[in-house]
Amino acid sequence: MGVEMNERHDFKLILAYNIGVAKFLIQGDRFLSGEIAVSGAKNSALKIFAASFLFNTPVHVKNVPLIEDILRLKELLSAVGVRISNTGSKEFALEAPENANTDLDKIITKSLRASVVLLGPVLARYGKVSMQHPGGCVIGKRPINFFVDGLKAMGAKAREENGCYFFEAKKLRSADFTFLAPSVTATETLMMASVLADGKVILRNCACEPEIVALAEFLNDSGAKIKGAGTHTIIIEGLGTKARLTARAPFEVIPDRIEAGSLLILGALLGNPRGGGLKIKNCRPLHFSSLTAHLEAAGVKITRGPDWISVSRPKKLSAVDVKTGEYPGFATDLQAPFVVFLTQTDGKSQIFETIFDGRFEYINELVRMGANITQCDPHRVIIFGPSPLSGREVKSPDLRAGLAFVIAGLIAKGTSVVHNVYNIDRGYESLDQKLAAVGADIKRVS
Ligand code: EPU
Repeated sequence: MGVEMNERHDFKLILAYNIGVAKFLIQGDRFLSGEIAVSGAKNSALKIFAASFLFNTPVHVKNVPLIEDILRLKELLSAVGVRISNTGSKEFALEAPENANTDLDKIITKSLRASVVLLGPVLARYGKVSMQHPGGCVIGKRPINFFVDGLKAMGAKAREENGCYFFEAKKLRSADFTFLAPSVTATETLMMASVLADGKVILRNCACEPEIVALAEFLNDSGAKIKGAGTHTIIIEGLGTKARLTARAPFEVIPDRIEAGSLLILGALLGNPRGGGLKIKNCRPLHFSSLTAHLEAAGVKITRGPDWISVSRPKKLSAVDVKTGEYPGFATDLQAPFVVFLTQTDGKSQIFETIFDGRFEYINELVRMGANITQCDPHRVIIFGPSPLSGREVKSPDLRAGLAFVIAGLIAKGTSVVHNVYNIDRGYESLDQKLAAVGADIKRVS
């Protein structure tokens, strides 16, 4: 089932329909060639939707990826009282209400990690917010202590009861807060909360991801005073509790660097050198330069322009070690697809996953497909390659591992079945259709 955004969706119905029902059937071992256009970034669009609470005007968002996580957030925001309308192809307008239901929907927050970013803007605008501990992909411990500590530093009262967090603040005040570690969503949440604070907020040891920069630029274009986004120190001159931002132009969601990077990995494995390989369009290669550096170190030849990148399979692929890290380091969200790549390289590679402690759940399934991988501890695996893979039935434990299984199925000999396609639809728009258009034999079966 594809996702039709202009239909009315019932959350529970969608879950019942998708989880465990839809699967991909893949016939592997075929070269691919042609062009694929990357969609808007999930992890940017979600935050811009959340930012709508800071505005007294509708916020128009273009290039929104038509994915399940966006549907979930739409459901969540509608329950709070936000009016959301579909204003064109991949375009939405969001208007926050004067009075909101600030108890965030339990079921949705438990299934969508990104719902945590609502804490900042909802608290800043309405003076209170409550939510269950946010869920989402099972990739290790995902605490929210940075959010709680940061909002408390800005004067909020916070308490937790049976896994539900309650925050209150008539107004948020100036603060100088240092994150224990750079966190993408915590940086975004506190940055948004600070926009309506009384006074100056300094956030130190911030994450630097492009999605944070895009959010800050949009807020600044709408009247916020944020300096330093994209560096480790962000300084926000709060406009005051009563102030609101005014959207002057639509926000165009930046291209999804994780989708682009994953397709690049696929092209390095299966891009047909005789057919021009894979050209990935509508992307910003500078946003995933750590990946391209690693692919080049493994012997892959890449050509690129400002908004496209092109790749095909070289004769020989060599092993390369990888350590994931905060931007501009190697993105943890590309780790699973890159492990699939390393199963085809010559020699021994080590992956050191530094961000999450549960992001190797998919390794056993790859081993069942024929990969030679040893897990040393929750953060490190060693891959011995090259190993031919054979088609198997696999079930994706999370979004990014789901795409890794699709890539594994496409390079494997025989038929693979990837179950739990809902996990893939959460973050990738029409993946099966995009891949089929460049020659992949992939079918969605419900
Ligand atoms: N952390 C804490 N306490 C907190 C928050 C984070 O200890 O209060 C720790 C985490 O456990 C982790 C580290 O800080 O060890 C960094 O995690 P971060 O907070 O940066 O992750 P996130 O904000 O929850 C976002 C993306 C993830 C992406 C990571 C890292 C969104 C909605 N999610 O998560 O994307 O992997 O940054 O880049 O922006 C995905 O899209 O599949 C995905 C998981």
